[in-house]
Amino acid sequence: MRFAARTFRFDTLLVAAALAAAAGCSAAPLGSTPANHDKAMRLPGADVYGRACASCHGQRGEGLSQAPALMGSGALPVYKRDPATTSSPAFQDIAERQRQQSLPPGADTRGAFKTAQDLFKFVSREMPLPKSKAGSLSEGEYWAVVNFILVGHGSAVPAGGVTAANAGTVEIKPAP
Ligand code: HEC
Repeated sequence: MRFAARTFRFDTLLVAAALAAAAGCSAAPLGSTPANHDKAMRLPGADVYGRACASCHGQRGEGLSQAPALMGSGALPVYKRDPATTSSPAFQDIAERQRQQSLPPGADTRGAFKTAQDLFKFVSREMPLPKSKAGSLSEGEYWAVVNFILVGHGSAVPAGGVTAANAGTVEIKPAP
C-alpha cells in the first residue's frame, strides 16, 4: 500500500510538471520573431505602425489586452475569432456585438484574411480605432503598414513589396 501511494505521488508530480511545461509554452510571448521584427523595422511602414497601431496591438504585434495579435504565431487567422468563445476584451465590446447582431444572419463582418488584399481592405476601412479614425490614414500609409505587418508576421512579400497591383495574389501565410 505504501509503495502504491508513493508511486501515485510520483505520477502526480510528473503530470504537474507536464502541465507546468505546457503552460510555459502557451505563455510564450506572441508577436513578431526577432528576425522578422528586424526586417520589418527597416520598412517605411514601421513608422506608421508605431504611430497608429502599436498602442493597441503591441510594438511587435503581440496583441495587448484590448486588441488581438497581428504578427507571429496564431496571428491573422483566416476567419475572425468567435466573439462568443474568446475571453479577449476586444471582442466583448457591447456596441460591436450589437452591430454584428444587427447584421443579416451569416453576414461577413471581417471577411476572410487570405491575401494581402483582404488585409488591406479590412485595415484601410476599419483601422485605426476608435471608429472616428477608421480610414483616416493615406492609401500609401495603409499599404506601408500592410507590408510591415506581413513581413513582421513572416509571410512572404514580393521583391518590390505588396502593392495594389499584386496584393490579390500575395497569400497570407501562417507565421513559421
Ligand atoms: C484603439 C485601438 C486600436 C488601434 C489604434 C488599432 N487597432 Fe486594430 N484592432 C483593434 C481592435 C479592438 C480589434 C478587434 C476588433 C475587430 O476585429 O473589429 C482590431 C483588429 C484589427 C485587425 C484584425 C485582426 C484579426 O485577427 O481579426 C487588424 C488586421 C488590425 N486591427 C490592424 C490595425 C492596424 C494596421 C492599425 C494601425 C493603422 C490598427 N489596427 C490600429 C484595436 C485597434
